[in-house]
Amino acid sequence: MAEDERPHLVVFTGSGISAESGIQTFRASDGLWADHPIEEVATPEAWRRNPARVLQFYNLRREQVRRARPNAAHRALAALERQGFRVSIITQNIDDLHERAGSRHVLHLHGEILKARSTVDGRMQYPLPRGGIELGDICDKGSQLRPDVVWFGESVPHFGEACEIVTEADLLLVVGTSLAVMPAASLLEHAPLDAPSVLVDPEAEVLAPPGVTRISQPAGRGVPALVRHWQREGRLWVPQTLLG
Ligand code: APR
Repeated sequence: MAEDERPHLVVFTGSGISAESGIQTFRASDGLWADHPIEEVATPEAWRRNPARVLQFYNLRREQVRRARPNAAHRALAALERQGFRVSIITQNIDDLHERAGSRHVLHLHGEILKARSTVDGRMQYPLPRGGIELGDICDKGSQLRPDVVWFGESVPHFGEACEIVTEADLLLVVGTSLAVMPAASLLEHAPLDAPSVLVDPEAEVLAPPGVTRISQPAGRGVPALVRHWQREGRLWVPQTLLG
């Protein structure tokens, strides 16, 4: 098959892109980890200690995800792809809002909340179109099911694939992430030296590493504005008018 010669937009998203859809971010003072300490709900030790609590935490979040709708940022990225741009999305998010907006190339670094997986064989995954996971729900090998999410202290199975995608970027657009979690945040270092990187985040001024262009706006405003420029001109670039 011929190589895809189109300029390649790689988008790396965090929970901030889903904030305007009503999904909580993690590290804000009113974020998810403020009420639910990581060590009680999002580590292998928490799972061993109190699986019912962990399942309940993710069951509630799954309901929140099902109620949410993609926002203008998710929709703009999907529209760009529909228009013929080459768009790859790498997301830290466990929601499915990129897919529901219509994006077709989405890699979930931290798993997907709408799937369950076996605790003895990670390849055994089950979609969860409705309901939650309860103690006693088992895989085809008879072991308890868990959410298909990556917990703190676990390896990130798709990280190598994500690095490869980033090395092929012509422009790296980062949206709504504090870049606090490794190895995900180190993805930015894999972008080619001649590919511009842009961060759209209300806190971009504080968060962006050196060399990354800052657009200090919420995703629902900053992303559609960038996309409109690209659609109008048919190329990927960083318009100076959006900065600040
Ligand atoms: N638009 C864009 N960004 C926003 C918006 C918005 N409307 N609202 C908030 N943000 C930004 C915040 O400024 C912050 O930089 O979203 C970011 C959220 O950061 P975190 O809470 O740290 O979440 P995230 O970066 O997604 O966390 C990464 O950490 O806890 C783990 O596995 C979890 O995938 C998650 C990972």
